[in-house]
Amino acid sequence: MKTNEIDYDNLTFSFTETKSMYVSKCNINRAWKKGELVPFKNINISPAATILNYGQGLFEGMKAYRTKNDEIIMFRPEENARRAANGCLRLSMPKISEDIFLDGVTSIVKDNVNYIPSTDKGALYVRPIIFGSGEGLGVAPSSEYTFMVYCSPVGPYFKGGLSPIKLIVTNDYHRAPLKGTGGVKAVGNYVPGMLPSSIAKKEGYAEVIYLDAAEEKYIEEVGAANFFAIYGKKLVTPKLSGSILPGITRDSVLFLAKNKLGMEVEERKITIDEALDADEVFCAGTAAIISPIGSIHYNKKEYNFSEGNVGETTRELYDILTGIQFGSDTDKYGWVTKI
Ligand SMILES: Cc1ncc(COP(=O)(O)O)c(C=O)c1O
Repeated sequence: MKTNEIDYDNLTFSFTETKSMYVSKCNINRAWKKGELVPFKNINISPAATILNYGQGLFEGMKAYRTKNDEIIMFRPEENARRAANGCLRLSMPKISEDIFLDGVTSIVKDNVNYIPSTDKGALYVRPIIFGSGEGLGVAPSSEYTFMVYCSPVGPYFKGGLSPIKLIVTNDYHRAPLKGTGGVKAVGNYVPGMLPSSIAKKEGYAEVIYLDAAEEKYIEEVGAANFFAIYGKKLVTPKLSGSILPGITRDSVLFLAKNKLGMEVEERKITIDEALDADEVFCAGTAAIISPIGSIHYNKKEYNFSEGNVGETTRELYDILTGIQFGSDTDKYGWVTKI
């Protein structure tokens, strides 16, 4: 799509085709080569490709922002590179190097710079994908791998910006078991959430809260975002157990709560009953940024937080985080990369 055909005033979190994509291949020697930019287009793939048959693949999600001074910045992209590399190992794929990952990401942002909305309208969502593109009939790692990066201008993930969302706890579905692949961004982790999420949306909820698969007692995550509960000056989030994705926003929020707001920070198991007792609750991720949770439906009852408003500490954390991410505040932590 041409940039002048895009309605930047009404961007949603949906796909808009841009100018180019980045493609790199990894052959039988399992060595990644630097990729190249090509026009955005459909790809050719064998019906016997490992990604299509066995889901051998992962993705990343990151954003490039246009600051008020018209600079283009990204937030902690090397953390996405590290998470993708860990994911490759878990999924029996050759480990992507930080250099090649970041070359793909920065090349795509530079080449599609005209698609980046102004800060108040949204961001350029950058989507690296790594998958088994070689053929294979038996269940085994692929003979060839592809690393691609594409992008799309996006607006907010949850409609309504920083306004409290309604969530529902599911007792019917789990996202990821312990010792599975929940701790990496495997493509196969996301399809199990589509059915519960669409049921929840039909019932008027923005997303689902998942409980742990073993005891169905502890909070895991909110769809594609990490969960947080605030009790006075204490911030609690579920401990990374292997089934929860180690969110980069999660890590940043924990750091800021401790170091900027002087909060006590706890990473531990948190029961749903304990969470329902919190002063404020929110979820956080690249797409969701920080989304205040206004109510949680659990066991046929609705539990409300912050009297339907955005909690004070949630707003403070949002302002601090987005100040750094959008480039309006000084980045004291070396989190921002200029592109
Ligand atoms: C399952 C899941 N949890 C949490 C997150 C948040 O992670 P991050 O803050 O790195 O975007 C995401 C999104 O990437 C996700 O897919």
